[in-house]
Amino acid sequence: MMPLITTLSYIRLLFRISLIIRKNCPPNSTTGRPTVLLPFYRLTSLLYNIIQPPLWQSNEKTLDVCMLVFPIRISSSPIKIPGFKTSWIFCEDMDGCKDVVFHTRDDKDDDRKEPAMKRSEINRIISNARAFFEEQNFKLPPWAFWGPSDWKGRKETCSEIIENMLGWDITDFGFGNFSQRGLLLFTLRNGNPAVRKKKYAEKVMIVEEDQETPMHFHWQKMEDIINRCGGNLAIDLYGSTEDEEMSDKPLTVKIDGIVRQVEPGGTILLQPGDSICLVQGIYHRFYAEKGKGRVLVGEVSEVNDDNTDNRFYEELGRFPVIEEDIEPLHLLVNDYSKYV
Ligand SMILES: [Fe+2]
Repeated sequence: MMPLITTLSYIRLLFRISLIIRKNCPPNSTTGRPTVLLPFYRLTSLLYNIIQPPLWQSNEKTLDVCMLVFPIRISSSPIKIPGFKTSWIFCEDMDGCKDVVFHTRDDKDDDRKEPAMKRSEINRIISNARAFFEEQNFKLPPWAFWGPSDWKGRKETCSEIIENMLGWDITDFGFGNFSQRGLLLFTLRNGNPAVRKKKYAEKVMIVEEDQETPMHFHWQKMEDIINRCGGNLAIDLYGSTEDEEMSDKPLTVKIDGIVRQVEPGGTILLQPGDSICLVQGIYHRFYAEKGKGRVLVGEVSEVNDDNTDNRFYEELGRFPVIEEDIEPLHLLVNDYSKYV
C-alpha cells in the first residue's frame, strides 16, 4: 500500500501544480476550462489506471482512495461533458477550486450506454419550439435561426455565445424518452463561470405536459423559475441534508416574493405569471400539469454552469448523445465545438 500512497502523492502534487496553472491560463473556448490542464487530468487518469486498475471497479472504492490521497470533497456524481465520450467525476478541493476532475474507468460506465437522440428528432423538437415561441409572441435573437453554415468563421465575434453556452439546448437526460423525461431550453444570456464577469443568466424553456425535469439542486446558482405563459407548472420540492440527500424537514420558499412553507416533497403549482425563487441546495423537479397545456418557462438566475453545477439526485446525462442521421437544422450548445 505504501508505494501506492507515495505514487499517488506525486500525482497529487501534479494536481496542485495544475491548479496553480489553472489560475493563470485563459479558458478553453468551449468548456471554459484551461486547455493546458486537460493533459494533467488525462495523465493522472492514466497513472491511476496503470497503478491500480481494480480501484476503478467500484465507484465507492475509487472515491475512498480519492478522499485518502487528495484533500477533496466529492461534489457531483459522474456527468457528461460536451466533447468527451466518457464519464467524468467532478470534485471540489478544500480551496473551493471546482476544476479537479477524475476520469472514471468504472466498468459500469461502459455498460451504461445512453440511448442516442437522433438529429432528426432534435430538429423536430426545435421546429415545434420555434412555432410555440412564435405563437406566444416570444422573440429569440437572430442567431437562434442560423444554420450550421451561418456559424462558419464567427468563432471570434460569437465567442460569448460559444463560451457561455448560449442557444438551443435539448436534453433527454440520457433516458431516451424525451416526451417523458426531457427539456428544451434556450439560453439567452449567461456569464462565463471561469471569468465571472457577467454574473447573471436568463433562459427560456418549454415544458410539456407530464414531461419531467428530474430532481436536482444547484450548489452555486440561485434561480427564479417563472411561468411566463401556457399551462400550469408543477414543482416538487425538498430541502437537502449535509450529505446531499433529500431532507425530511419542511422548507421555506418565496413565491413571487411571498414566504411559503412547504412540506418535504410538496408540490407548488405555478400558474402563468407566477414565479418561485430557488436558493442553492433546494431539490426541485418540474413538469407541466396534465390537461392544462405546455408551459413557456423563464429562468432568471446567477451565472449558469451546466457542466458542474447540477446535482441530480439520480445519475443521469445532462447533454444527449446524438445520432447524426440528418444535418442539424440549428446548432445546440454542445455542437459549437464541432461546427464553429
Ligand atoms: Fe434547477
